[in-house]
Amino acid sequence: MPWRDNPETYGWITRALHWGIAALILWQILGMVLRLALGRMPVVSLFVGLHQPLGATLFVLIAARLLWALAQRRRRPGHGRGPLARATRAGHVLLYALMVAVPALGLLRAWGNTRAFAPWGLPVFPARETEIAWATTLADRLHGELAWALTALILGHVVMALIHALHWCDGTLARMAGRR
Ligand code: HEM
Repeated sequence: MPWRDNPETYGWITRALHWGIAALILWQILGMVLRLALGRMPVVSLFVGLHQPLGATLFVLIAARLLWALAQRRRRPGHGRGPLARATRAGHVLLYALMVAVPALGLLRAWGNTRAFAPWGLPVFPARETEIAWATTLADRLHGELAWALTALILGHVVMALIHALHWCDGTLARMAGRR
């Protein structure tokens, strides 16, 4: 498998970023769904306890993915022409926008509140005496809402990938999941 993308298939760097980020986002969302469904239980604490460090890691991985996608944009498989292709492109742009915005808002809250933020023991934001209210309020209002919008968009993305694979049988899913 090539390391870079080409018009027939995605290379291994794109695939590693795609599936790694997908698994970590699934973990984040599953944890929050379990917290809503079960409340504070030991199994939920495992998810919730890792939410912030994993979210910070996701932010870095998603930034890398965005830069890599821009670098590969002229090499990778196209979406064709017509309304469906335009809708696909718009859906992907929205996915990228939400994937950046959701962890960025989480980090904004971590920056603006009074506690120190040190994901995996790495000092990122020091403790501060007074909260930066605009930052924490903005994050409080938008982080969860946009995360649920991202969840809905990911579900749509998965359904479309399955329709491509099982109904249209056009090899679209194989470009990201197949052997070539
Ligand atoms: C792609 C990455 C992320 C996803 C998908 C995600 C998703 C979510 C979801 C679905 C919720 C629940 C919202 C609700 O209760 O309605 C939530 C809450 C929260 N998130 Fe994130 N998040 C991510 C990254 C981050 C980051 C980077 C931070 C901070 C560094 C963060 C901090 C929080 C906090 C503090 C809460 C509230 C938890 C509580 O009420 O106990 N998240 N997140």
